[in-house]
Amino acid sequence: MDPLLLAETVERKARQGKPPKAVVPVHLYGQSVDLDPILTICKHYDIPVIEDAAEALGASYKGRAPGTFGKAGVFSFNGNKIITTSGGGMLVSDDGELIAHARKLATQARDPAPHYQHSEIGYNYRMSNVLAGIGRGQLQVLEERVQARRRNFDFYVETLGELPGINFMPESTWGRHTRWLSCITVNEEAFGASREDIRLALEAANIEARPLWKPMHLQPVFAGCECVGGRLAEQLFAQGLCLPSGSNLAEDDLARVVHVIQCVHRIGAGKPLAAMRVPF
Ligand SMILES: Cc1ncc(COP(=O)(O)O)c(C=O)c1O
Repeated sequence: MDPLLLAETVERKARQGKPPKAVVPVHLYGQSVDLDPILTICKHYDIPVIEDAAEALGASYKGRAPGTFGKAGVFSFNGNKIITTSGGGMLVSDDGELIAHARKLATQARDPAPHYQHSEIGYNYRMSNVLAGIGRGQLQVLEERVQARRRNFDFYVETLGELPGINFMPESTWGRHTRWLSCITVNEEAFGASREDIRLALEAANIEARPLWKPMHLQPVFAGCECVGGRLAEQLFAQGLCLPSGSNLAEDDLARVVHVIQCVHRIGAGKPLAAMRVPF
């Protein structure tokens, strides 16, 4: 989220008498956004900030965990996350009333009565105690997982960093990146092949890699919605690739990924896999 665009937009909407009801900064790929300017703007207009920290468990912003700065923070324990309960997540806030209400809504909004009574509409959103137990157990290995992810990233930088046209997602000065995902951008002209050429070569070697997130404003479901900015996100989507980043990847696995990318650079795009002699 670009704080300058946010400031302009909030100011314009406030002047029109329609300030946003909430602002949701998203901490992407394991790194916190620059929260301070966003919090300052929102505080000025009294707009609650709900942090989407689904991808940033284990990261830091100025020495503190992203997800704990706003009115509330949300985390994901989906199967692809750094620790997982197979599905589900966590809501955090230091507002006790908000948490009590969220807990009630997540538990079918049951009123305190011996019979089932409901004064508002609720949901069946609570995490089962079995999954919560698995999650709590994994919290203890969070730091190890972060270190493993960071080692993956360092390996990619050491082995691919010299290739022309490959750039790595920078770690900001304000905190720690967990490297939940190791992200690169590919400048086709400098590298000699495109992001998609690399992705397809990896796929042919049975290695899954994905483009960076498709921006919200390009999602068909949001066609016609108002959008502010977006050019940078479009460029990142066109050029960006998330490399295999699992906490349990062995050095041989990482070396296979690197080998394919080096081959695409040397041999060029669209050449048969056999030419790459990818070890399985
Ligand atoms: C930034 C972000 N927000 C929200 C979610 C949704 O979390 P969940 O899958 O636990 O619903 C995810 C990923 O799954 C995510 O990466």
